[in-house]
Amino acid sequence: MPSILVVDDELSMREFLKILLDKEGFTTETAASGTEALKTIATDNYDLIISDIRMPDLDGLTLLEHIKNNDINTPVVLITAYASPEDAVLAMKNGAYDYITKPFKVEDFLKIVTSALGSISETSIDDKASSFEGIIGGSREMLKIYDLIARIAPTHANVLIHGESGTGKELVAKAIHNRSKAAHNAFVPITCSAIPESLIESELFGHAKGAFTGAIAPKTGLFELADNGSAFLDEIGELTPLIQTKLLRVLQEREFKRVGGSETIKVNVRIISATNKNLEEEVMAGRFREDLFYRLAVVPIRVPPLRERRSDVPLLVDYFLKKYSALFDKEVHELSAYAMEVLMNYDFPGNVRELENIIERGVALESSNIILPESLTLSMHRKGENLKTIDRDNQAPSFSDEIFDVGLEQYVADIEKNALKQALKETNNSKMKAADLLKMSFRSFRYKVKKYNLD
Ligand SMILES: Nc1ncnc2c1ncn2[C@@H]1O[C@H](COP(=O)(O)OP(=O)(O)OP(=O)(O)O)[C@@H](O)[C@H]1O
Ligand SMILES: [Mg+2]
Repeated sequence: MPSILVVDDELSMREFLKILLDKEGFTTETAASGTEALKTIATDNYDLIISDIRMPDLDGLTLLEHIKNNDINTPVVLITAYASPEDAVLAMKNGAYDYITKPFKVEDFLKIVTSALGSISETSIDDKASSFEGIIGGSREMLKIYDLIARIAPTHANVLIHGESGTGKELVAKAIHNRSKAAHNAFVPITCSAIPESLIESELFGHAKGAFTGAIAPKTGLFELADNGSAFLDEIGELTPLIQTKLLRVLQEREFKRVGGSETIKVNVRIISATNKNLEEEVMAGRFREDLFYRLAVVPIRVPPLRERRSDVPLLVDYFLKKYSALFDKEVHELSAYAMEVLMNYDFPGNVRELENIIERGVALESSNIILPESLTLSMHRKGENLKTIDRDNQAPSFSDEIFDVGLEQYVADIEKNALKQALKETNNSKMKAADLLKMSFRSFRYKVKKYNLD
């Protein structure tokens, strides 16, 4: 049964609405203020939020704003005691599903509730189903990840994200931060493998002036920068044993000293780490400290490779087509069916990053509105057998013997002429549309029409 949160500062109104909604079979909870509602929303999911607009501490419009800013898809219905049209306009403008003016008829109220709840199955869940915090994907695998993120983000538990290169681990890390209570504090990333061992300690913990040769000024480390926020330790599997030990100590004691410093610094940092190694294997092989592993992987999240969730490919293609069309100021909005088939059968060793690069190049190279297979640059690893059916050579039409009588040039010219004629017929002689149909520029179409005397 759908769950509904009722927010109103007036007790009688809260009780009235709760009785009304419970009677309809909904699970109803109440909050006595906007602030209380914010707290509840951070931990619990609702299918609908109904809120009074006029409330003393944090009003309904501010609550709505918060919900929208945090990408929460729950529809919001606002109630106001005064038939004040400005409030109603503001509510709708700021993304409220609807509003209702007190006093209202019970049936009108229930009608709005039902329709708002209906809107979830049509839009919000669909929205949710194909993206989450900038992560695109509607496969069952991704939905599970979205759900996990939503549940663990507010808990402050350390998270270890693992998955092949290019699967979106960094996006997942950011989503966790954005959904956490520390969302408005810093998210500080560091790529462990990119920093030599001699420097990583001072990157993580900072150093005092004169701590070592070259330390001409004091430095604030990652842990201080990320205080009250999240530190993202990328490629954590590359940490050397020495640094692993030092990191473990900080995680245990929640305090440390800068390199060469004397002051003990206390911090409150959530660690989100990522790796494309199998850290459990690294632990077994004695290359990664087991105690550190368990501290980091309080919640493990595996991001599956793209080939294990092929249903995400069309969604991602669409998303990247829009992105790069806008960026390159082009209008490439589609892949030809054949090009899409090639991608659906491709293994994507470089995962989403590779798909993004393929589409970026495709949009850059393509001169028509549609990406053809020729504009796809794939690396070697194709999924063999299926591709045979779409091999261009095998697909070539068979020619009649006429080609040997008239010669290639004449034969091709005849085909071209017939194609132009047919396109003109299909478009009621609109040259513009016919050119489009043949994916040609208007100029070359007009040129060929002249050449073949089709005017
Ligand atoms: N689900 C997704 N939706 C949209 N973009 C994605 C998705 N997954 C990955 N990307 C994009 O692909 C690129 C690679 O993603 P990201 O950096 O998060 O991967 P990664 O798993 O951290 O890879 P690596 O292990 O190589 O660091 C980025 O440009 C990212 O925006
Ligand atoms: Mg990464």
